[in-house]
Amino acid sequence: MDSELDQQARDILAANDKGGYTVPNPKLYPFQWLWDSFFVALGFMTYNEPRAWQEIDNLFKGQWENGMMPHIIFHKEAPNYMPGPDVWMAKAPSGIKTSGITQPPIGAITIRKMLESAKDRKRAEEKVKEYIPKLLAFHRWFHDARDPNNTGLVAVLHPWETGRDNSPDWDIPLSNVPIENLESYQRVDTNIVDAEQRPQKDTYDRYMALVQKFQRDQYDLNTLYATSPFKVADTTINFILNRADHDLLRIAEDVGYDLGSDKAVIEGWIKISDAALEKLWNAEESMYECLDLRTGQYTGTSSSGGLVCFLARNLDKGRVDHLIEKLWQWRETVNYLVPSYSPNGSRFEPQRYWRGPVWAVVNFLIYEGLMDHGCKEIGHQIAADTAKVIKENGFCEYFNPITGEGLGGGGFSWTAAMWLAWLSPVQDL
Ligand code: GLC
Repeated sequence: MDSELDQQARDILAANDKGGYTVPNPKLYPFQWLWDSFFVALGFMTYNEPRAWQEIDNLFKGQWENGMMPHIIFHKEAPNYMPGPDVWMAKAPSGIKTSGITQPPIGAITIRKMLESAKDRKRAEEKVKEYIPKLLAFHRWFHDARDPNNTGLVAVLHPWETGRDNSPDWDIPLSNVPIENLESYQRVDTNIVDAEQRPQKDTYDRYMALVQKFQRDQYDLNTLYATSPFKVADTTINFILNRADHDLLRIAEDVGYDLGSDKAVIEGWIKISDAALEKLWNAEESMYECLDLRTGQYTGTSSSGGLVCFLARNLDKGRVDHLIEKLWQWRETVNYLVPSYSPNGSRFEPQRYWRGPVWAVVNFLIYEGLMDHGCKEIGHQIAADTAKVIKENGFCEYFNPITGEGLGGGGFSWTAAMWLAWLSPVQDL
């Protein structure tokens, strides 16, 4: 336990608390983000359980009628954000404005951890019972709307849905997104963070072309899936959803919630996903890679997204050993695991958003999966590297894997939360 850093982390969460929900960083991201807040709730859980549940309550206020959980919830107006509520023009039934795309469905995974660590078990069980139907609706939306042909792999229609916005994984699929009809827009992120650490203009144009198209299509599920020029089976999302389905069954059992016939439905999702995840293994590269569903091609990029695979339950032992070997090889090139893209790859940029830097939350997911597989040595190395980079450079949004330099926004909520929930307790191992 490092009480000084613990206190700093709690101070960051307090500073970013906008009244029941936490913004990732008040300047760069002044609203509530989906997967950020699930991680943030884990941080609150270490010292203020009611506040942790409140974070999740506020996320569900953004849930759509069709079950989707949007990636941004605009609880209150905030200046200087683009694309804001006026661009998305979307709303939840609660009347709260939201974005129109989603993010990785880590809810069931983090809520399971919250339940397991709760000191007030009674309250935790009540909250979990309240959340199960909502989580189920979200998972159902993913499996139905994003995999209408029941292939076992769900699609993302925008890089932002993966949470790894600017990864080299999207370079080829994004190059097929037309930008001829792009309406003009004003970027604000590069006024706040050095342009060297943010996506390039051409990439941003394509992000916006997708947003404008989805808005014109009024977020109609069938149209979006059928006509989106970007349609990719992302490693991160598919491995997370597979694990989240498992954890949904688990929390229901733990709190005595009767899922009725939905139990078999969830088991069915897991079964086809278990088989389909095989398709993400690119044997030529010996790596889990994203699959461009429009062309049937692998993206040909080794990124940290593929290493989230350890969250799945039934990985081949030979593959696990091989991927651990790869992590140790990466560690010979960089000083801090896990770079978001292979440090030996041609597109590696150690300072640019998702093209090389280290993210604490992705490390946490990889760590959790590795520990489940009993791979302690590499797991501890990842925890030690993440703790060290934070101790030396502060609670930044992301870090240069070679120099450790803190990048992007400072005083970042999910980095603080990962310190409290994960690193502070394990760092002396
Ligand atoms: C960036 C990240 C995304 C995150 C958001 C808020 O868009 O790529 O994963 O949710 O910032 O922190």
